[in-house]
Amino acid sequence: MRRLIDKLERDHCLKKEEWMALIAAEAEKEYLYERARAVSGQYYGNKVYTRGLIEFTNYCRNNCYYCGIRRDNADVERYRLSEEEILSCCKEGYRLGFRTFVLQGGEDAYYTDDRLIHLIRAIKKAYGDCALTLSIGEKSKESCRKFFEAGADRYLLRHETANKEHYRSLHPKELSLEKRQECLYNLKEIGFQTGCGFMVGSPGQTVECLAEDMLFITELQPQMVGIGPFVPHHKTPFASEAAGSVERTLYLIGLLRLLKPNLLLPATTALGTMDENGRERGILAGANVVMPNLSPVGVRKKYALYDNKICTGDEAAECRMCLSGRMERIGYRLVTDRGDPAENECHLAGKKENYVQRNVTESGRVHQ
Ligand code: SAM
Ligand code: FES
Repeated sequence: MRRLIDKLERDHCLKKEEWMALIAAEAEKEYLYERARAVSGQYYGNKVYTRGLIEFTNYCRNNCYYCGIRRDNADVERYRLSEEEILSCCKEGYRLGFRTFVLQGGEDAYYTDDRLIHLIRAIKKAYGDCALTLSIGEKSKESCRKFFEAGADRYLLRHETANKEHYRSLHPKELSLEKRQECLYNLKEIGFQTGCGFMVGSPGQTVECLAEDMLFITELQPQMVGIGPFVPHHKTPFASEAAGSVERTLYLIGLLRLLKPNLLLPATTALGTMDENGRERGILAGANVVMPNLSPVGVRKKYALYDNKICTGDEAAECRMCLSGRMERIGYRLVTDRGDPAENECHLAGKKENYVQRNVTESGRVHQ
């Protein structure tokens, strides 16, 4: 397995059978994490980037089987923040030093393109030195282009799984993997710094599915990848399914760091929910981003994607302080600058862009 880890670090690309062997074995963990930390250190030193997360609406027209705020969950007390409330979250975030805001929400029809464009412009006007990330689900290419032109810089849209049958089993029939992936390619083409990702241990996920996720990520070459364990929510069709494994999530974080050295890779709240020290362990496995909650304290519990979600009671400032203490204790430094991937040149002279894949054709397709 060490040979495959070394190969991944050298070539930034593996064949499907190699991915499957490595993921199934989950072997040589310490070696993998040591290499992942070394690579992350070359690009980012001991910096951990922070993104202020604003969960601005829990209305959603979708009915994903895993998600606590799905349309059919009648127990959810629905809320949406007004533009003013969102701007006041940004104001508090800015005061605390955040220079990236992530607007995340369900697919809420109230937030039309015009309202979103107005909001994006207002945030960028007030905080022109900040990066703005959208995580608002699937939108048409035209809408995404307008959001980009209004000033949004980044877009997070987890692909959820790259396996068609698995995608089918996680979503109702009106959603499709094809459409999800098309959105991701559109976002990249428009010029967004783009993030995809998936839950680890979602019901029905096999080692083969995970290998396909890795191949999709190799092909898409996103700037960010968000992964975290699946955590069941008691009011969803997956209420009695087992949660995803923390160990496997950490292993995949390590592999992703070697796959794409300058990736922005968060240690997610779901990881912190499944393990008290999950976010620290994520950083030590190769992650380099944390996303403290900047949503108003009064709505945090209402954005329950899964049970027992952490950080739903803190003050924004406490959340930030808690995370910075946690990072310092493991020898890392929470930084608030925008942390654009393009700005992050390898600390080792001459190594910049050395990681460009060798096995990718000009069209971007991966040899398998
Ligand atoms: N509506 C937007 C979208 O679809 O991208 C953003 C919000 S959605 C709730 C954000 C992410 O939460 C999803 O992409 C999914 O991976 C994750 N998520 C949802 N339910 C989850 C669960 N039960 N456990 C872990 N992660 C979950
Ligand atoms: Fe829409 Fe989860 S089903 S955000």
